Amino acid sequence: MGKDVIVACDFSGKKEVFDFLDLFTEEKPFVKIGMELFYAEGPEIVREIKARGHKIFLDLKLHDIPNTVKKAMKVLSKLDVDMCNLHAGGTVAMMEAAIEGLTREDGSRPMLIAVTQLTSTSQERMESDLLIEKPLDEVVMHYAKCAEQAGLDGVVCSPLEAGKVHEICGKAFCTVTPGVRFADGDVGDQVRVTTPAKANEIGSDYIVVGRPITAAADPVVAYRRCVAEFVSE
Ligand code: C5P
Repeated sequence: MGKDVIVACDFSGKKEVFDFLDLFTEEKPFVKIGMELFYAEGPEIVREIKARGHKIFLDLKLHDIPNTVKKAMKVLSKLDVDMCNLHAGGTVAMMEAAIEGLTREDGSRPMLIAVTQLTSTSQERMESDLLIEKPLDEVVMHYAKCAEQAGLDGVVCSPLEAGKVHEICGKAFCTVTPGVRFADGDVGDQVRVTTPAKANEIGSDYIVVGRPITAAADPVVAYRRCVAEFVSE
């Protein structure tokens, strides 16, 4: 598993995403496609970006009964994405079914990553709305452990949690971490952020970076800076 920068292509449509990807003439960034773009353009957008030579993290966060998730994952495995995800809250049984659905006849499959508790969920909301009364970080680590037990490859988490996830689930269990900002950049609506270099130091395996690259005056320069700070330092 190589460390890499995943660019969150949070664009509303095909034209916007291709205008952005066209800027990259020398490298083929690993691309994250989220719900907005996928629901707007359908599976064809995945095929087209893949055909241009990019690796793809399809961020659809599946959460349903095991049989439904298994069948949906089977479809995603045929789309030939490199990474996809689900909510660990769907239980170990759902995650095991997902792996089954995702595994192709030749035994290969895309990486499968779990979302633990969303970073938008506070301790207070978790207690009042979900009736989960344990400390949030304990819940996150428990969900990570369940994901590992189900055979998943890693979790999406804050870079600040990446070290602890590796401590609990092992070095090979990978951490995919958003909330990354350049030291001299805008934080925007992210609350707990780290720089690419710091994320590397703590142990992130993949950083997911959106606006610091997509909204930069020169996205290619910003992407290269991110790779240099994360992978090389
Ligand atoms: O633009 P920015 O770098 O904040 O983008 C981060 C990306 O990671 C977005 O696509 C966002 O939805 C996603 N994400 C996040 N925090 C999470 C999970 C996903 O920022 N906890």
